[in-house]
Amino acid sequence: MERRPATDIFHDWALVGKDEGMEKGHAFAVNEMLDFIFKQAQELPDKFSAIDVGCGNGWVVRLLKNHFACDYAEGIDGATAMIEKAETIDPEGNYSKRTLPEFEPSRKYDFLHSMEFLYYLNDPQNMLKLFFDQWINLRGWAVIGIDHYLENEESLTWPEHVGVNMTTLSINQWLEAWRNAGFSNIKHWRTGKDSSETLIIAGQKLA
Ligand SMILES: C[S@@+](CC[C@H](N)C(=O)[O-])C[C@H]1O[C@@H](n2cnc3c(N)ncnc32)[C@H](O)[C@@H]1O
Repeated sequence: MERRPATDIFHDWALVGKDEGMEKGHAFAVNEMLDFIFKQAQELPDKFSAIDVGCGNGWVVRLLKNHFACDYAEGIDGATAMIEKAETIDPEGNYSKRTLPEFEPSRKYDFLHSMEFLYYLNDPQNMLKLFFDQWINLRGWAVIGIDHYLENEESLTWPEHVGVNMTTLSINQWLEAWRNAGFSNIKHWRTGKDSSETLIIAGQKLA
């Protein structure tokens, strides 16, 4: 099958409402990611800021900003129709169309959340380095979920089925990439409602 840019494919998905199916499908793992974020947020002296990278229709941004200790939440995504949908649902929210890895943020965040985005990049290892250097405050965390990785065998046919390039790494390769990017306190676990399909990795910026 012909390969298309991921942002074009997800633009089309938003136009036909498939973003809502993703929201339902990803909710189980994302709830664990948010639980982790909200627990870490208790350690911070002040309210926290957060960004959701590859935010789709912005549903996680809205969960973040509704937390009592959150004072700023933002979402970015490279698919025009995803951002338009986010803005329609939440006109007061902070959503913008940005394409990675090119986009460089003008501020840093206490938490960077990202679900099912990173492996669409050709060089996710370098994106982790950029997240560490340019996106995350000292003592802040990145919390990232992915379903496409070597040990999740059923995910290995997705690039062909969906018609998009994906970077396939093993769990150990992902962990090495997080270490090489500079993260400390790296934690990982697998989860999922019906199987352990989502690999969640969290790491802290300590220096
Ligand atoms: C599988 S969807 C996940 C969306 C959302 N995180 C969720 O869980 O519902 C992946 C998202 O990443 C975005 N994306 C993929 N590659 C991107 C890139 N290079 N720059 C910006 N966004 C990108 C897509 O547009 C899409 O909305």
